[in-house]
Amino acid sequence: MGTIIELRSVSKRFGGFLAVNDCSLSVTAGSVTGLIGPNGAGKSTLFNMVAGNLAPTSGTILLDGEDVTGLEAHELFSRGLLRTFQIAHEFSHMTVTENLMMVPSRQSGESLLEAWLRPARVAREETAIRRKAEEVLDFLKIAHVRNELAGNLSGGQKKLLELGRTMMADAKIVLLDEIAAGVNRTLLNDLASNIERLNQELGYTFFVIEHDMDLIGRLCDPVIVMAAGSVMTEGHIADIQKNEAVIEAYFGGSPTGNATTISAAAEAARGAGAPA
Ligand SMILES: Nc1ncnc2c1ncn2[C@@H]1O[C@H](COP(=O)(O)OP(=O)(O)OP(=O)(O)O)[C@@H](O)[C@H]1O
Ligand SMILES: [Mg+2]
Repeated sequence: MGTIIELRSVSKRFGGFLAVNDCSLSVTAGSVTGLIGPNGAGKSTLFNMVAGNLAPTSGTILLDGEDVTGLEAHELFSRGLLRTFQIAHEFSHMTVTENLMMVPSRQSGESLLEAWLRPARVAREETAIRRKAEEVLDFLKIAHVRNELAGNLSGGQKKLLELGRTMMADAKIVLLDEIAAGVNRTLLNDLASNIERLNQELGYTFFVIEHDMDLIGRLCDPVIVMAAGSVMTEGHIADIQKNEAVIEAYFGGSPTGNATTISAAAEAARGAGAPA
């Protein structure tokens, strides 16, 4: 399989501070690639650039071999790349099925004129979208909450709904930033197995930022390590966890300095960096 995402010497400067400093990396199509590193390493900033939420200060980003540097998030979305976001507050009063059905299609823009001129066709499309939403709910094994208001879902179920939205959009390259934060163990297991199935059965590529080393170890190969804005190393999690420079990056001078394993340091970082 080829490279689907490639960064060449990408940097992001905030004022005088280089949050991302000359990063080059690539993500292989069909992989679940992890991105780890201490708090403030620049992981989310790097994701924001890949997803089109921030323009790089310098460097080049390629998607499927094409230069997409500086393209907006919606333009990348139409090329099949999507970053998940928490279900927005205004959608919390809609049901799970409705949340899925309102994901914009990547193919045809729905036209009001068409709805007026060709109501039968629009109705057929609505039926197709509803059927697709039901397939997504079945795939994720959350059909039992289809009529629940999104705002009433547990943290883990909301994450599954976020994944469901990527399936409705037919996004095939999905960026996940700290999906494990605030999710209980049982639902984390569901989330992980759904990511595995989307990857193995439907060919999704995932690029995953995570402080939960168990989840990284289960899902991700390879794992890329960032520290202080730069890519340090890349490899299998078992090798990463033995890498002296990585251990030093996690422990050196950080508030997690009393931890004795990368997992413990990452767990501490997760606590410090978890979104509210
Ligand atoms: N919009 C911004 N303006 C100024 N500085 C920023 C901005 N966004 C991020 N930074 C800084 O850039 C650095 C990298 O932040 P980033 O959020 O990318 O780190 P991270 O690796 O995702 O950390 P965490 O694991 O805590 O989520 C931090 O020092 C942060 O304070
Ligand atoms: Mg972050």
